[in-house]
Amino acid sequence: MSERLAIDGGTPVRQDPFPARLQIDEREIEAVLALLRQAAEGGGAFDRYGGTEVDAYEQEFAAHFGTRFATSTSSGTAAIHTALGALRLEIGSEVISAPITDPGAVAPILWNNCVPVFADADPETFNMDPKSIEERLSERTRAIIACHLTGQPADMDAILALAAKHDLPVIEDCAQAHEAEYKGRKVGSLGRLAAFSLMSGKHSTAGGQGGMVLTGDEETYWNAKRFADRGKPFGSTETTNLFLGMNYRMTELEAAIGRVQLRKLPDIVERRRKAVDCLREHMRGLQAIGLGKVIEGVKPAYWFVFLRVYPERLRVAKEQVAKALQAEGMPVGAENSALVPDQLWIRERQTYGSSRCPWVCPYYGKAISYEEAVPNARQAIANHMVLSVHENYGDRECADIAAALSKVESAYLM
Ligand SMILES: Cc1ncc(COP(=O)(O)O)c(C=O)c1O
Repeated sequence: MSERLAIDGGTPVRQDPFPARLQIDEREIEAVLALLRQAAEGGGAFDRYGGTEVDAYEQEFAAHFGTRFATSTSSGTAAIHTALGALRLEIGSEVISAPITDPGAVAPILWNNCVPVFADADPETFNMDPKSIEERLSERTRAIIACHLTGQPADMDAILALAAKHDLPVIEDCAQAHEAEYKGRKVGSLGRLAAFSLMSGKHSTAGGQGGMVLTGDEETYWNAKRFADRGKPFGSTETTNLFLGMNYRMTELEAAIGRVQLRKLPDIVERRRKAVDCLREHMRGLQAIGLGKVIEGVKPAYWFVFLRVYPERLRVAKEQVAKALQAEGMPVGAENSALVPDQLWIRERQTYGSSRCPWVCPYYGKAISYEEAVPNARQAIANHMVLSVHENYGDRECADIAAALSKVESAYLM
């Protein structure tokens, strides 16, 4: 190792910042201006009723992902809530959840007065391990939320087979996986329902926040649409609201942006794949750091990527490696810390006042502990770093990342 590490005062591999992710261009600006002009001249102020953008966005979204129906919502959390709401689950039902996910994928289970049961993860992919899902099934299990974490599809054949065997609906959580493919099909079309987050920072956004619920089943669709608008009697002959629901309506402004973004999505994801392929090429020859595992038959959408660290081949801990990479100017973090069972609100059951409901509830009446439940998820987190990647990374970025990895690895190799 001739060159000194930047962490020791040497010259960093990358001295200028990585390219920014610019999600918005003239096309979104034009779409929003057109709506603003329309409202200024003709009245109305962007509610979906009376407009055309949200309706069109829903139809285009469903068609794009190869399914029949879409219901828009105000966030990805709202989309998961709406998907669960559409299933009309009984209080005290158990819902299988990924252990490494966003709190917004778990909170809606509790808002439905159901209990999350965390399946363990595959230690190499972070996604739920179907074997662990099977072990967690009980007579109370009523749904499975299968998250496609960081853009990599979960092991859907195994999950869907298990769900079919036990007659359980699967909700795909596609928040981090827009446009990812599983055996030639886009995620979002595989389960009974799918939920997308459209917040800014995701592969595509509906103007900062937003969500979408997909389904191929008509009755499930009507229930989703009803739930997302206070139980309104859509698709029914009743004249008053049918059941308890939320107001999760998307606005016309958000949908106008989302429609443009949906058209850009395939190119965005293709460019991300190209960047990661390029990185993979440049990283050949590294011995202690590699790209995270990709399972057979999938095309990930790469929301970000995991870097697999082989601690037994390094003289220092992963945290030191991450620090050294940051000092080389790399957009690397030491770990993904999204282990929901460890979060305070779950550990201390902080839900409705001090009730600890629905874990403590006459409709549940069962003790459940998460403490020892997900050892492989912990192992996944321990053995990986996270690296930002997006569609504006080109050959130079890939070469710089690989050069920094190589420099840091050779400084710390056993
Ligand atoms: C896997 C997953 N599910 C659900 C959500 C919740 O989405 P939102 O933040 O749009 O409410 C997120 C958000 O990042 C997520 O990553």
